[in-house]
Amino acid sequence: MRDIHRKASIYQVYIKSFRDSNGDGMGDLEGVRQGLPYIRRLGATHVWITPFLCSPQDDNGYDVSDYRNIEPMFGTMRDLERLVTEADALGLGIMMDMVFNHTSSQHVWFQKALAGDKKYQDYYIFRDPAPDGGAPNNWQSSFGGSAWEFVPALNKYYLHLYAVSQPDLNWENPQVRQELYDILQFWLQKGIKGFRFDVINEISKPQDFPDAVPGQREPFINGPRVHEFVHEMNRAVFAEHPEILTVGELAGCDIQNLSWFTDPARQELDTGFQFHHMRADYTDNQKWTEGRLNHRLLKDTLFSWVEGVEKGSGCLSLFWSNHDQPRALSRFGDPAGQPEKSAKAVATVLYWMGGIPSIFQGEELGMKNAGFTALEQYKDVESINHYKILREQGKSEEEVLRILAQRSRDNGRTVFPWDCSHAHGFTTGEPWIWSGDSVLCSAEEEEKKPDSIFHFYQRMLALRCEHVDALCGTFRPLHTARDAVFAYEKCGTEEKLLVIVNLSDQSGALAEEVELKGYEAEPVCLVQANEELPKNALPRQLMPWSAMVYKLNAKQEK
Ligand code: GLC
Repeated sequence: MRDIHRKASIYQVYIKSFRDSNGDGMGDLEGVRQGLPYIRRLGATHVWITPFLCSPQDDNGYDVSDYRNIEPMFGTMRDLERLVTEADALGLGIMMDMVFNHTSSQHVWFQKALAGDKKYQDYYIFRDPAPDGGAPNNWQSSFGGSAWEFVPALNKYYLHLYAVSQPDLNWENPQVRQELYDILQFWLQKGIKGFRFDVINEISKPQDFPDAVPGQREPFINGPRVHEFVHEMNRAVFAEHPEILTVGELAGCDIQNLSWFTDPARQELDTGFQFHHMRADYTDNQKWTEGRLNHRLLKDTLFSWVEGVEKGSGCLSLFWSNHDQPRALSRFGDPAGQPEKSAKAVATVLYWMGGIPSIFQGEELGMKNAGFTALEQYKDVESINHYKILREQGKSEEEVLRILAQRSRDNGRTVFPWDCSHAHGFTTGEPWIWSGDSVLCSAEEEEKKPDSIFHFYQRMLALRCEHVDALCGTFRPLHTARDAVFAYEKCGTEEKLLVIVNLSDQSGALAEEVELKGYEAEPVCLVQANEELPKNALPRQLMPWSAMVYKLNAKQEK
């Protein structure tokens, strides 16, 4: 991690659902501006806003039709400028979500390509049909079906790793890369302080377009020139702007590649999201199944990534949730039994590891899955496509709806609860999506309660800054008797922290639960816990959903 970002933490705003300022039921930039003081009070340093550029919204703005203009439904350029100015004044950096693997099919480049313009055809990936007239290879779209779409007028297929309306850009073409770098420069001039790069490790396709082999990583993940391209972008755009924070969405990445992407010496990205720990509640590693959380898998995955990326001098983005994931409390905590305590436990496990935290709106309020029970309640293209696919596979309506209720991205996309008024204070109109069961408590109520989840997160972010030495130090897992108990040390040059979290409702004697290496006898000092615990000694019992961070070898406090 670059020194400049040692105290960075990101708050992710899903713009559609954060705050609506004009009563049209859809969040907007002015709403984000109104919410800035709240984010500032929470203590994040950067605000990543999901796409708000011109887009037909086939995939919630991840289908951009104009990279230099604001989607009117989200506001105007003036709104953005005002947002950036106010964020600056509050010491917050605005981060944009840059979707550079593909554009919308409505983008003028693609429209020209379809109209036969050769220059713009080379901006995308057009290929001849296979000898039998079928698609050029067997690649599948992430949203279901073939990743190739046939254009009869051109007698060619084009590649879309996502929806049909999201054609992939051809990064092999230097002109395309220059266009994208110019777009970044444009936004830097507006005062943008960081970028999250959507599916950035998919931009380089092997030029022989080999078939994907079942069970193996797809050939376009970490493709042959991906590091070269990302390094080139870094030098072309960020060499003059060292303060900019860059985050890569690195789907299907491995430890080695994530370390390469984020090792400061390589000048590619500052940090990256991997998603392997998001699979710990899948059955047979498949998303569209009903599943139960496997604590062993969760722990092994998280710990091996943290250790591996640390060895590779990389920097991991620490996250439990985002706009593509069901709610963390529903997956890893106990939303029905002990929502508050378990939400704090879930936070503690992850955010004391080394890396840059990324907190998704509403996570700090204990938001839960929406509990939708009918297809009409879903808005997301992925959920609706998979409903059809699963039904075609012969699954019953009830089973498919249960799977969607557990897996749908809409679980994380319900509106942010500001207060207890109409539509949770999100809008004066009708919200674009129903809230279902997602709200535990509003921001207003949480801020009033001293021991709320909000205040726990707020304290945690502040404490992280005080303990940066340990946080940037070495991660050492500790052996535990049960899979649901997570324990590790963080050892800096000046101090050492001990983190113990029980992600279950079973309790036990601490010394039996965790291999404590004699810490019981050492002077310790409590840093943060989600219950009353002794300040200068480890507790004897590990209670259900208990979470604690102790400073080791600490001087006794009076
Ligand atoms: C990323 C985004 C997701 C989007 C996809 C295609 O995974 O986070 O929301 O659907 O890219 O752009």
